[in-house]
Amino acid sequence: MKRREFLGMAVAGAGSILPGCGGGGGGSAGMPMVGSPIASGGAALTQGLPLKSLATLANAAPESGRFAASLVAAPAGLSLLEGRTTSLWLYNGLLPGPVVDVREGDRVRIAVENRLPLDTTVHWHGLPVPADQDGSPLDPVRPGSTRVYEFDLPSGTAGTYWYHPHAHQTTAQQVSMGLAAPFIVRAGDDPLAHLPEVTMLVTGIRLDANGQVSPGTAMDFTVGRQGEQLLVNGGRLPVHSVRPGSTQRWRILNATSARYLRLALDGHAFTLVGTDGGLLGAPVGPLSEVLVAPAQRVEIVVTASATPGARFTLRAQRHAIDTMGMGSYAAEDLLTLATTAESPVAPLVIPAALRPVASLGPAVARKRVTLTQSGMGMMAGAGSFLIDGRPFDMNRVDYVSTVGDVEDWEIVNQTMMDHPIHIHGTQFQLLSRGSGSFATPAPYAAWIDTVDVPSGTAATIRMRQDMPGKRMVHCHILEHEDEGMMAVLEVRPR
Ligand code: C2O
Ligand code: CU
Ligand code: CU
Repeated sequence: MKRREFLGMAVAGAGSILPGCGGGGGGSAGMPMVGSPIASGGAALTQGLPLKSLATLANAAPESGRFAASLVAAPAGLSLLEGRTTSLWLYNGLLPGPVVDVREGDRVRIAVENRLPLDTTVHWHGLPVPADQDGSPLDPVRPGSTRVYEFDLPSGTAGTYWYHPHAHQTTAQQVSMGLAAPFIVRAGDDPLAHLPEVTMLVTGIRLDANGQVSPGTAMDFTVGRQGEQLLVNGGRLPVHSVRPGSTQRWRILNATSARYLRLALDGHAFTLVGTDGGLLGAPVGPLSEVLVAPAQRVEIVVTASATPGARFTLRAQRHAIDTMGMGSYAAEDLLTLATTAESPVAPLVIPAALRPVASLGPAVARKRVTLTQSGMGMMAGAGSFLIDGRPFDMNRVDYVSTVGDVEDWEIVNQTMMDHPIHIHGTQFQLLSRGSGSFATPAPYAAWIDTVDVPSGTAATIRMRQDMPGKRMVHCHILEHEDEGMMAVLEVRPR
């Protein structure tokens, strides 16, 4: 089917996408409506099992201050549906992959063996690693080969990161097959060390009638992968049980391709304590909801209800990401918070000051990045979302910065969709949203590596790159990234 024809079938304003559109990828017959349960040959993913705590990647380094391990990216079969084996691509055979759990100051050395049938890389999303250790598309790891990544974790980097493949034009495919995992950096002086902690990695999966991961469709490559079931730590609608009244720190990672998570927990408020690059200066809240765009992370503190034996739903609420009603997401339940029958415990206190978010100082340069689309409206089809009107070319340099220079980047979204824009190599800060005299300053300082830029708006970030080399600037809707919504920033030595 031609894209034009295909897109012509969408009903503007329907608030969802049409089911059953056969896309370009094949095997997508019966693609369900966004937010509806996926029945695959009558069977749905098992739901309601206890929340899995993720496996940790074992440290093989004998001395302290070092982390050494290996990862194997390889095909693996898992039984996700009764009586069927789903073929996936996994790190060390795990869905999701193992958590890298390290400390500030550590020297990290991870060998990655590629047993996949195509090039891969491992990108350490959000971490300030040297450009040649960044796992960008410039540095593919060929099938059958092993690549060693090695980098230091400077002090001040404590936070919640993740790792995923970043191979040229196949990132969406590789992540949809199961390759993604958390990377947690801890500080020696963590002001929240007294709180019990839970990591929740949210991923999406879309299975066809044979229980296999369905390939990307034309619709996916236009508005981002649609119709996935959301998994938390690899499980559908898991149950997280806590003693009534208990206070916990949740690290939530959005590792979906395109699904914005506007999180809310029935009967509870969140306190936001951290973002992509770690803790805020002070807690923010209480909040009734928090938006986590694709690739972003939040750390929130939740104090569970004091009522024993109660159940509450954590859900991703309805969220529209385009002005045509095509890339809108219906509300979907993510996880059940269940209180045990035990007597309540007293809530724990969060300190009023967490970790200062240092000001970067005044900018010495400004850049403007324009998110564009080719063609008319959403009818332009796949590949229509670009940066400054140009598709990604890894042999071209789009922006030049100098090591140590503080820069303000105004990112202007002229397209009909929201885009979560990610920049490699460093954490940055949102300064304001809107333009000129209509700019609204960011309500608090926070370290982020991905900024959501809604359709028709602008966001200004302040950033300093501390290491030379070529860095990727891209939309983290993985289909957009693969289709060319990516640019190269060359950071030159001073
Ligand atoms: Cu998480 Cu360039 O990516
Ligand atoms: Cu990244
Ligand atoms: Cu995008």
